[in-house]
Amino acid sequence: MKMRDILRWSDVTPKAFWLSRRQLIAGAAAMVATPALARIDAAPSKYSTDAEPNTLEDITSYNNFYEFGTDKGDPARYAGGLTTDPWSVVIDGLVDKPGTYDLADVVKDQPLEERIYRFRCVEAWSMVIPWIGFELAGLLNRVGVQPGAKFVAFETLVRPEEMPGQSSPFIEWPYREGLRLDEAMHPLTILATGLYGEPMPNQNGAPIRLVVPWKYGFKSIKSIVRISLVDKMPPTTWNMLQPSEYGFYSNVNPNVDHPRWSQASERRIGAGLFGGRQDTLMFNGYEAEVASLYAEQDLAVDF
Ligand code: MTE
Repeated sequence: MKMRDILRWSDVTPKAFWLSRRQLIAGAAAMVATPALARIDAAPSKYSTDAEPNTLEDITSYNNFYEFGTDKGDPARYAGGLTTDPWSVVIDGLVDKPGTYDLADVVKDQPLEERIYRFRCVEAWSMVIPWIGFELAGLLNRVGVQPGAKFVAFETLVRPEEMPGQSSPFIEWPYREGLRLDEAMHPLTILATGLYGEPMPNQNGAPIRLVVPWKYGFKSIKSIVRISLVDKMPPTTWNMLQPSEYGFYSNVNPNVDHPRWSQASERRIGAGLFGGRQDTLMFNGYEAEVASLYAEQDLAVDF
């Protein structure tokens, strides 16, 4: 199955119409009742922020994807060589239906939605990104999470022939991430298969990546090939590299500084040299939705 068939959303949301909807919301365009526009009016989902998204250019040219190098421009430069079709995802561990699932099966029956999320990187910059994706919970429910499962572990593809950054051993490949089960099941947590109404650009984690909007961007692991339900907190790449700087939770928290810099404010990419700095919000602005997950925890300890 081709990516295009999987991403049905792109058929109904061509970018021009998507932009029309944004303009409509901004009051900048006259109301024109075309069928296409009506369908787009059904999106984005209720979980979206109403902040103005960054441009496709910003979103696809300023990336972190160390499999392709450490420069922000490396993913755009080198990720085009990654083969993303065919693609399969191993789902294993404490699940009723473990297996190697073709990407089409992973996406099958999961309602694709547009979700415009704030994205906050630990390096204190941010963007707003219109993802196309579906709730991770939908997939986990379909494969059947067993009672002993407490965490979900994720792994990215290892393919040094196509991922030039993997020739450097500074990260112990594969790139790994993890969530507690309640975080994974939260409706804000999505697996994204596209953005701006189109299939996921390779540099953003094609063909399928995690997006957890209340956590720093590095939790949102790209190009996923394995999802494991486990009973213990799994190792995660940045925690393995530098445990004093990157904890397991990595919730966006303006009150807990990174040991080497403040996390109290952020620079919105694309907002211009002088207009871009803004206060960082607790849980990246998703406090009402997620604070209850951590009610019992000291977030200065569980950072
Ligand atoms: N996933 C993999 N496999 N490899 C990476 O290097 N970088 C993370 C995260 N996911 C990374 C990854 C970091 S540090 C960030 S900030 C985001 O991806 C960047 O996502 P974006 O390029 O789509 O904005």
